[in-house]
Amino acid sequence: MKTAVVILAAGKGTRMKSNKPKVLHEVAGVPMLFHIIEAVESLTPNEIIVVTGHGGETVNEAIAANYENVKCVTQEEQLGTGHAVAQAQTALKGFDGNIVILYGDVPLISVDTLSQLNLSHQSQENDITVMTAFADDPTGLGRIVRDANDDISAIVEQKNATDAQKKIDEINTGIYVVKAPLVFDLINNVSADSITAEYYLTSIVALGLNAGHTVGTYTAEDAEALSGINSRLQLACAEDHFQNIKREAFMAEGVTMTDPQSVFFSLDTKIGKDVEIGPNVQFGPNVRVESDVRIEGQCTMSDTYINSGANILSFCHFEDAEIGEDATVGPFCRLRPNAQLEKGSKAGSFVEIKKSVVGEGSKVPHLTYVGDVQIGKGVNIGGGTIFANYDSVAKVKSQTVIADGASIGAGNVIIAPVAIGEESCTGANATITKDVPAGALSFSKPEAIIKKGYTAKHKADK
Ligand code: UD1
Ligand code: CA
Repeated sequence: MKTAVVILAAGKGTRMKSNKPKVLHEVAGVPMLFHIIEAVESLTPNEIIVVTGHGGETVNEAIAANYENVKCVTQEEQLGTGHAVAQAQTALKGFDGNIVILYGDVPLISVDTLSQLNLSHQSQENDITVMTAFADDPTGLGRIVRDANDDISAIVEQKNATDAQKKIDEINTGIYVVKAPLVFDLINNVSADSITAEYYLTSIVALGLNAGHTVGTYTAEDAEALSGINSRLQLACAEDHFQNIKREAFMAEGVTMTDPQSVFFSLDTKIGKDVEIGPNVQFGPNVRVESDVRIEGQCTMSDTYINSGANILSFCHFEDAEIGEDATVGPFCRLRPNAQLEKGSKAGSFVEIKKSVVGEGSKVPHLTYVGDVQIGKGVNIGGGTIFANYDSVAKVKSQTVIADGASIGAGNVIIAPVAIGEESCTGANATITKDVPAGALSFSKPEAIIKKGYTAKHKADK
């Protein structure tokens, strides 16, 4: 049977008090809407349609930049969740199959729960299946009303609920599987709510039952993951819930964390076995850590690949970097875009590296800026060295190339473009403005001048 997915993301999200559309607010470094798209992709649907409206242009752009296979349809005026689904009718013209409907503000739905819902819909041979959950605090959510046989008879919104209904703790998660084209026929018969004037999707339950269709429920276990995000507080709760799930999953897979509560992951973080993570580590989007890596603590990283056996000391910041096998980094090291540390290399304390390669076994141990440099194997860069890569008059950046086995003295200023030959050396405090041939020594320091008896004379002069 064919499957289509419709995600509702047109609402204003008034309670977020934000200029940013609600569904673009992030959980685990990723817009909440993307969590849902990633989860529904596991169902390999024929179509994924997102209904956008409030802040639609921004949402459409974000989707287009990340997902080729997702279509957006516009809901010009936000007249309710039922009205929102109706906007997908044209895009799904002639579609005969199941539609999975989700709300863009319920991001933590798991792949497993989604497939359970689908199975339940099929085995019960339902026309409509509503995913419900039991909430500790159901305030604000739609309540599941059941008849004497314990079958669902309606969903009642908080605003419309009687006092007795308000006591019901089984809630509507906002996730459904419905048959198409039936769902559109039902929605077209929904009338506006007497209090809010909105066309509620939830009304299709009672309407469907009246028309003789089969409506069933699937009750999910993880209620906390299925509560919608309407406010910043709920956003923080969702973040907390997501992080706890990730922490437990990584520990179960062989990752050690001394203080799990202070380690934060992204939706796509990948960590290998026997990785040790100390306190206060933040994994931004797109980080992969191979096995046997140690991350001492207080580090932030994104778009970074850390190969096995690397040792990351405290207080590091990595952005779009690659760290080779058994390399040592930090403490206090900043790796900026395109910093690449090869196997067994070292970037030590107070070192900043950008768009450069530090070759196998090479060392940049202390207080150094490395920008636009290709460093070969077994090179040592003396402390306090600056690679001057920028010509501020011509406004161009140039490259430095350092061949294998070269040794750069302490406190050098290396003015690019320049090439430093194999096994060559530079003296301490040298300013390198021209190429250094292989095996040569280049230095520019003046000879030290010695004034004997200076201190005594200086004191006498006072
Ligand atoms: C909705 C449900 C409620 C359920 C809860 C689960 C209805 C009427 N109520 O309430 O039963 O318990 O979700 O979290 O469906 N949207 C549009 N267009 C609109 C209105 C909303 O696209 O015109 C989208 C919003 O962007 C949001 C989703 O639909 O992603 C839900 O809307 P929201 O206003 O948050 O509904 P709730 O009051 O939370
Ligand atoms: Ca909501």
